[in-house]
Amino acid sequence: MIKENGNPIIFENGDKKIAVEFLVGGFVRVYEKKAKTDLIEISYRKSNAKIEVKEGAIAYGSFELSFDDEASLIVKKSGKDYLVVKHTHEEGNNVSFSFNSESHIYGLGDKMAQLDKKGYAYRQWNTDCTARHDELEPALYKSLNFILLEKESTYCGLFFPSTYPYDVDLGLKEENKATITSKDAPIDYFLFLEDTPKEIVSAYSSLVGHPYMVRLKMLGNNQSRWGYESEALVREVVSKYRENQIPLDYLHFDIFYMDGYRDFTSDKTRFPNLKNLTSWMKDKNVEAVCINDAGIKLDPEFDVYNYCKDNGLISTQNGKELVATVWPGDSIFPKYYHPKAQTFFGDKAYAFMKENGFSGLWNDMNEPVSFKGELPEDVDFSIPGRKVSHLEEHNVYGEHMIRCFSKIFERDNIRPYLFSRACFATTPKYAFVWNGDNYSLWHHLRSSIPQVLTLSLCGAMFNGDDIGGFGGHGNRELLIRWVEANILFPFFRNHSTLNTKAQEPYAYDEETKEIYTHYLNIRYELLPYLYNCVEEMSSKGIPMVRPLFYNYPLDEKSKCVNDQYMVGDDIMVAPIVDQGATVRSVYFPKGNWYDYETGEKYKGGRYYAIPMPLGKTGIYVRGNTIIPCFKKGLQYIEKEEIDTLVLRLYGNKGKCRLYEDDGKTLDYKKGKFNVYAFSFDKKGVTYKYIEKEYESPFRTLKIKKGGKEASINFKENKAVALEDLK
Ligand code: GLC
Repeated sequence: MIKENGNPIIFENGDKKIAVEFLVGGFVRVYEKKAKTDLIEISYRKSNAKIEVKEGAIAYGSFELSFDDEASLIVKKSGKDYLVVKHTHEEGNNVSFSFNSESHIYGLGDKMAQLDKKGYAYRQWNTDCTARHDELEPALYKSLNFILLEKESTYCGLFFPSTYPYDVDLGLKEENKATITSKDAPIDYFLFLEDTPKEIVSAYSSLVGHPYMVRLKMLGNNQSRWGYESEALVREVVSKYRENQIPLDYLHFDIFYMDGYRDFTSDKTRFPNLKNLTSWMKDKNVEAVCINDAGIKLDPEFDVYNYCKDNGLISTQNGKELVATVWPGDSIFPKYYHPKAQTFFGDKAYAFMKENGFSGLWNDMNEPVSFKGELPEDVDFSIPGRKVSHLEEHNVYGEHMIRCFSKIFERDNIRPYLFSRACFATTPKYAFVWNGDNYSLWHHLRSSIPQVLTLSLCGAMFNGDDIGGFGGHGNRELLIRWVEANILFPFFRNHSTLNTKAQEPYAYDEETKEIYTHYLNIRYELLPYLYNCVEEMSSKGIPMVRPLFYNYPLDEKSKCVNDQYMVGDDIMVAPIVDQGATVRSVYFPKGNWYDYETGEKYKGGRYYAIPMPLGKTGIYVRGNTIIPCFKKGLQYIEKEEIDTLVLRLYGNKGKCRLYEDDGKTLDYKKGKFNVYAFSFDKKGVTYKYIEKEYESPFRTLKIKKGGKEASINFKENKAVALEDLK
């Protein structure tokens, strides 16, 4: 029976009890006891709406909620049973529900698996898995406890907010039954009952925090390698990029720049003058990013170690410093959540980056990982006034580390370039992520798509993987196909490990270089479109890249497509991800579609077999739309230098909203941005400002449609007739 009527509604029957709290924004919190969430930041408000219980059931949007005698939550949609969520206590606290064999069950972050995780089991415990990842690997670097269920085209989301580990069985033990178990977290989850995946993901993202707004330049090309071991090599890489006219915006410095792998130090033999080097790079419009590891070298001569020691910042076991092994050898793991650590590490990173000219920080080994094996369960991360056990801290250790740095960029009124390998659901508002150590393997290329799409659904929306593969030797075909496949992923970085074959764009032959450059050029052209997606991501929690079903939730054929992805609403990418393949089947959702490069038209709602020899990937634009672009041939992104906006028109009529700001500073928060509304029909193109607070560098507006084009003075803001296109 319902014991308390109001918000929350409490149902009780004997010793069984469950509460449902109604929140603003289309979701509820269901709990026996609320999990402690003070180690993270989540944001929600209780709804003031009157909750009406009629004959034991509560109407909720298009759903209806009720309980059975066991205190299970029964969810109906349009009078039909949709979901029964059971709450039990077997070997821990369990939340379970059944689905059917046609259902799809998505989510859980970075697992290297297909979109639909049905039939597998996972563990939410941040892990540096050195094996070659695949769907049988229960845990990788990130713990994003978000599940999206599809059942007969009705979708719902579940988020488990505790930082303690969870075991998630999605139908391995018992077919078509999901069980989420935690020994330490109470039964407590948020349930998102909205009508579309888009609404569900946005509501979830607003709870955990929308990803932060990245710099426009961060959409550019990033080059990295664990092995750029000297100043000469860095100069060579940057010079080769520029000589070959291959676009480049950031170069990453892996651990070789450090002195004995001590954070915030530099190796004076390898890099005698980092500041000179990074200034030289800046003159070429390439910015420098440095790696920063979670473990601190145990060295009584090292100021960072000493500060941690003197201020009680070292995690302990049985009252003694816990000594782990990471790159520097014996290392300690600071209690980054300690207020003193937050200030100290922030200041340290700020000073180091300033002194050496770094503009971004890459955070690694922060699961945290020790080469001695798993950290013992009883490591103590307590801070004054709060006992923090290893089990509770582990999955947010990486987040606590990067929170030391998330505010330091503000000192210069710049948006953070901050990324992390470890991640919890609440991390993306501070840092973006990459997928960790993949290999130069065809199945890792293939998995990069569902992996990036799943991370995106789970809120880590600005992400990417190591293009070309991190571990193992690659080859030219694999590299080309990798670039073609990942070309519109949010974060684009080629990275590889020590002693493997070089895989920079120019490392193979002329043809590889040309194809690599060709697709980078397309990416750079599309940056205004991608930047629109960035703005939607950070203001509304809308993923930049999505699985097809996100845009077409009722389309049966869209529900399990693992080798195609949508970029925003209007672009779809369908690459080749198999060795030797030169033709593939592409599914086009409803509407008309146009090949971005050739203009060839395809009718939606069907499959086409499309030839894609090496050097060709499928980038398709939805009909009746406008794609905003930069001019061709940009080598780097310096906003002030980009004077032309190109509008590419597809179909007979269409519109687009374009967001524009300086791409770099936090001034957009003070309203310094423009929003344009462009539209076209048979007659021509018109546009108007919706917001106009930013001094745009655009001087020329170029309109392109099917091989014809016209240019006008951007500032004149006049209509362009389609017949003027030549
Ligand atoms: C880790 C990172 C990898 C990096 C290496 C050395 O394996 O995941 O990207 O290159 O450490 O720092």
